[in-house]
Amino acid sequence: MKGLILSGGKGTRLRPITYTSAKQLVPVANRPVLFRVIDTICEAGITEIGIVIGDTGNEIRRAVGDGSRWGVQITYIPQEQPLGLAHAVKISQPFLGDERFVMFLGDNCIEGGIAGLIEQFEDSDYHAQIVLKQVSDPRQFGVAELDPQGQITRLVEKPREPQSDLALVGVYMFDHHIWQAVAAIRPSFRGELEITDAIQWLIDHELRVFAYVHQGWWIDTGKKDDLLEANRLVLEDLEQQLVGYVDRDSHITGRVVIEAGAEVINSTVRGPAIIGEHTRIINSYIGPFTSIYHHCTVENSEIEHSIILEHSIVRDLPHRLEESLVGRNVEIARSALKPRAYRLMLGDNSTVGVL
Ligand code: DAU
Repeated sequence: MKGLILSGGKGTRLRPITYTSAKQLVPVANRPVLFRVIDTICEAGITEIGIVIGDTGNEIRRAVGDGSRWGVQITYIPQEQPLGLAHAVKISQPFLGDERFVMFLGDNCIEGGIAGLIEQFEDSDYHAQIVLKQVSDPRQFGVAELDPQGQITRLVEKPREPQSDLALVGVYMFDHHIWQAVAAIRPSFRGELEITDAIQWLIDHELRVFAYVHQGWWIDTGKKDDLLEANRLVLEDLEQQLVGYVDRDSHITGRVVIEAGAEVINSTVRGPAIIGEHTRIINSYIGPFTSIYHHCTVENSEIEHSIILEHSIVRDLPHRLEESLVGRNVEIARSALKPRAYRLMLGDNSTVGVL
């Protein structure tokens, strides 16, 4: 079996972070979402993985490399434009051939347990397998309607009036019948070749499509609050690991990871929280559900329930930073300049909440 990861697309909902970088590389608990997807595919014993890339392809190639870090072989499949998930599948046919494959959306974060499902599909006589999850607002997803026996009757992409609360999770498994399906379908109302329509085509042609309802958590990390929620959920399972330096005046409580080369000086870190490589925490408080990536500095400040990306600085803040997503190379600091005023340089589509 082979693996396919979709990492093209534009990532409009995470702007401004995604103006300059790929949304699939935003870290959750200090590990990019895309790396977590590769981890899961590896766990299922798959060693050949194709990654569909778009405008941010070079950055993804740099971050992932040839796959040797995972002991797998990665093939990059450039997609000229994000013309839909089924389009991405279509252009991957030369890589996939007639083998069964599992496809993951590169921005989805899912609780463990999926690797076993992939292995089961390999030995089954199903033509396709989809993963579903009950959600409170199905309108933003592909939605599946099932009959009382659990057979899929209909799939609808982002319905205005959903007839079910079962969303399609970004994990799909197919055999070679998918090639006929993606060749037969036409672009949807949003101008994309929808994978949902391709799976509906399989059902209409009486091919066996199995629906598995996932009981653990699943998050499409497309938006800030979803990303913070994924971060919270992954940190819930964190195991304490203190590799970096913690001085005698600091207090570490709960499950905390201090990565190599990090320093915690005269500070309190209350887990679950993770402090990245070569990050310095000085005279500060880091509260639960916070991930601070590598090479950051936090000084005389308090941060809770937030994600801070690499090489950023947070200094002398008079109030606690909460529920925030801070990009790369950002500096947030109190200024002594008079008159007292906010002095900002923010990217397009930034959001700032002031006191
Ligand atoms: O997250 C689950 C949902 O993902 C499903 O419930 C929907 O049925 C499915 O259509 C999809 O909806 P989204 O609108 O959230 O998909 P998005 O455009 O965010 O793309 C998902 C991933 O695929 C993302 O990593 C970018 C990548 N992609 C997307 C398109 C449209 C590509 O690589 N190529 C593309 O052409």
